[in-house]
Amino acid sequence: MKIQDFRQVNLREVAENKNKIVHTFGALAELGYEVANKGNFQETIRTSLHLVLGSLGIMRGGVARYSRFEHELNMLAVRGLGENFPLSLSLCYEDERQFLTNGLHPIEICKASVLPFFQVYDRTFETTRLQLMLPLVIRDETVGAVVLGEKATGEPYTSYDKEIICAMGRHIGGAIAQRNMLAELERRSDENRKLYENLHMTYNDTVQAFAAAIDCKDKYTEGHSVRVGKYSEIIGTELGWGEDEVEGAAVAGYLHDVGKLTVERKIINAPYRINAKESAELNKHPAIGFEILSPIHHPYTDVPLAAKYHHERLDGHGYPDGLYDRQIPYIAKIVNLADSFDAMTTDRPYRRRRPANEVFEDLQRNSGKQFAPEIVSAFFRGMLKELNGESKKKEFRKLLGREFMETEGLAISLKNALNGMMPTSKLTMIGLD
Ligand SMILES: [Fe+2]
Ligand SMILES: [Fe+2]
Repeated sequence: MKIQDFRQVNLREVAENKNKIVHTFGALAELGYEVANKGNFQETIRTSLHLVLGSLGIMRGGVARYSRFEHELNMLAVRGLGENFPLSLSLCYEDERQFLTNGLHPIEICKASVLPFFQVYDRTFETTRLQLMLPLVIRDETVGAVVLGEKATGEPYTSYDKEIICAMGRHIGGAIAQRNMLAELERRSDENRKLYENLHMTYNDTVQAFAAAIDCKDKYTEGHSVRVGKYSEIIGTELGWGEDEVEGAAVAGYLHDVGKLTVERKIINAPYRINAKESAELNKHPAIGFEILSPIHHPYTDVPLAAKYHHERLDGHGYPDGLYDRQIPYIAKIVNLADSFDAMTTDRPYRRRRPANEVFEDLQRNSGKQFAPEIVSAFFRGMLKELNGESKKKEFRKLLGREFMETEGLAISLKNALNGMMPTSKLTMIGLD
């Protein structure tokens, strides 16, 4: 060969090498972009494999993710390996240790037969003509592996090829590690959510158990606290409150009489109208209830206040503090109505339950004096919805019984009551004499 010809061949080689480098760097840049793209993980891995194979002209290969719980390499993407290539490849402890020690460097499969992994899958790798395996070791952790077949040219892998493969492997391993981290975060947040739900359930169960314990003490008003809880819940819903607030209203109702646990049983169960001394004793239950509930960290802050002020009236004639309308916490006004309604609609030792129409007249007459009109309206609306069939729930029917709910003209008297109600109490209205 003449010197001139030699120089031309040399120049062609340099140009080819330059093209190869530009091409490979293009593929690397694309791979980096693909991995940084937070789209579909499976798609990212498939594209990454395509780029690795394409940039070096490799016939076939695959990318696997390592599961350290199952000790398996699970194939995420394969190309040209045939249908019989296993989707999972098992690893033993020794394989795992060796791959970790090897780090992110390509292993020539034909020279690695000392490892159990390559002995077990010897036939598979031979049939698919796989030549290289790159353990994806990222920050001292094996996250997966890339397996590669022969190059289209039939030439062996050069050290330059191997460097490119390592660089690309680092990107792919990074994507898998990131995905693993995300999965772990999701798992933990899922665990936290379940834990919270469990706690929430435990709290609600405890509240209901308490309500049942309070009701147990009073044989004449069996189920009173539970019913007051349910009525308070209905009122909260009708006022358009959110799920948490409605639940808070229910809890306040369930626990409003918790102070009665310390009142003597004979006073609570007296089959006659109690005397002044006994009455004074009984009337301590709101303050005692507040003392019992205050140290407890409730998810709904108003629960102790509901216990303390559920016997207050808008006109200031209630107890224990004789508060006026706007001084009374809203939740206590709700529980007060629920409590009074239940007292009127259940039998007591010294009197029978009152007829429905009489109860509604009473509530209407006393709204603005004892009860907040907008709360009475909300309560009436809730009942009317059930009577009209607007609400499919049969809550009132369950709480009050068929006889009460089928009182003649009940819907009409409820409508009339609603139409005749003031939107709010005179006391609440600002600027009204
Ligand atoms: Fe009470
Ligand atoms: Fe009560």
